[in-house]
Parts: sequence; C-alpha cells; structure tokens
Amino acid sequence: MKTETTIQGLTASLAPARTTKKLIGFVPTMGNLHEGHLTLVRAAKKICDVVVVSIFVNPIQFGAGEDFDSYPRTLEQDSRLLADVGCDIIFAPSVEQMYGKHPRLTNISVSQITNDLCGESRPGHFDGVAVVVTKLFNIVQPDYAFFGQKDYQQLAVIRQLVQDLNIPLEVIGVPIVRAADGLALSSRNGYLSEEERIAAPTIYQLLKQAEAALGEGQALSQVLANISIELTQVGFVVDYVEARQPNLQPIEQFDRDLVLFVAAKLGSTRLIDNLQIDFKI
Ligand code: PAF
Repeated sequence: MKTETTIQGLTASLAPARTTKKLIGFVPTMGNLHEGHLTLVRAAKKICDVVVVSIFVNPIQFGAGEDFDSYPRTLEQDSRLLADVGCDIIFAPSVEQMYGKHPRLTNISVSQITNDLCGESRPGHFDGVAVVVTKLFNIVQPDYAFFGQKDYQQLAVIRQLVQDLNIPLEVIGVPIVRAADGLALSSRNGYLSEEERIAAPTIYQLLKQAEAALGEGQALSQVLANISIELTQVGFVVDYVEARQPNLQPIEQFDRDLVLFVAAKLGSTRLIDNLQIDFKI
C-alpha cells in the first residue's frame, strides 16, 4: 500500500493502472476510520482492481463553531486498518495541497435537496462537500466511488452532482454499518461520554419502533412526533425528525416507500441516522 500526499504523486502512482485500463475504485473519507469505512473499502475491492482511499478533513464543509479543529486526525491508525483490508493507495493531502495553490472562485451548489434536513442546520455544508468531492473525483478519476448510506442526504447530493455534471463514474451507496446495540457507526461517536454512548442507540430503537407503528397503520405525523418526544425525554436535543421519499422529495402518498431521518444532539455531539421503510401493504 502506498501513501501519497500530493496530486502529482497520486497521478504518478495511478498511471500504470490507468494505462492498463484497470478499474479504479475510490472511497473518500475524512479519516478516523471505523468498520463503516472499512466496509466501503471491502465493497470497492469486490468490483475494482485498484482501490484509492482519500483521508482529508475538508475545512470548507465545516461551519463556524463546528468541530473542524477537534476532528480526530489518526493517519497512522487509519493506515494500519486500510492495509489490513487491502487498500492500494491512500491519498492524504494537506489543506494547502487541496486549496492552497490559487484562490478558489468556483462554488458548487446542488439546489433543492440541500435546502432542508442537514442543509437547514448546516448552511454551506453541502456546497463544501460538493466542491471537495468534485475536486477529488477529478484528481482520482475513478470508475466507481463508494459512499455510506448513513449520510443519506450527502449520497443523494453526490448522485445528483455526478448526474448533472456528467462526471464519468458510478456512485455506489453502501448500507449503514451499526454497532451491536444498533448505533450507526460514525467517527463522531468517539465524542460521546460513557453515559451518552448508552443513550445513543435510542435513535435506532425509535426508528425501528416507528417502522413497526407505521406497519400497524399509525399516522406518519404521530409516529414522527413520538420519536421527537421520546428522544427529548432521554436527553437529546432534536434537530429534526422527518420522512421523505427515497429521492428526498416530500411524501405525497403514504403507501409508498419512504425514509425516516433523525438528527439530534447528545451533549455537544450531533448524531444522524435514517431508516428506509419499504411498504408492503
Ligand atoms: O462523508 C465524509 O466523510 C465527507 O463528507 C466526504 C465525503 C469525505 C467529503 O469530505
């Protein structure tokens, strides 16, 4: 496994794969890797010849007062984990390497689907993601790119971006990886205190209860309100509890597949989760 920190170095490392028309898979990350990320790499290994993982804490997707400075940078540990799952190249550029060369005058903004859910409470976040992901796609030029479904809205934004800008690659969404108690794996789970970690799986438990309640015919508005009330009771500060069509459009008909979304803070840690509900009624 090689580690490249410059665009030039990465381009040179990928040149043999490109000339021999090997399939290149790409897993963009911000590091502090966990089993969720490793699952993305394993998915990439299944269908690609060469797998590149980027590790870059992207300053422009963090808002004022968010955790850019404290976001864990654990390159050594990440490198060991990536070597074990057969990653071929780590791309770990500096902020200077990604943004320092020229002042950036171009923004990328995916409209509509970024207006609400996390887009509402994190203004500018998805523009920052769209810019860095587009830059990374142009640098790596992969055939396939892998993203986790935990960041469901991010995945939708990236699919839209790839479609709208004719970026020549296929986006693969990989199901959420959960701890044994149901908590969706996230680098931010490491911020939770012992007590908060015990409360955190409540989000998933309530999502599953909501699925059952909907199956029994309870009204969607009531089911969403119950999640909010119960989260508040166990100490969460709820940002949103929402339901959308799988394409993130508002729900028009209640007998179609839908996705439930939750974002809530436990102490200073913001957790997000979602559950796709397939209606079989
Ligand atoms: O999901 C993440 O880790 C980040 O948002 C991404 C896609 C690597 C862009 O910085």
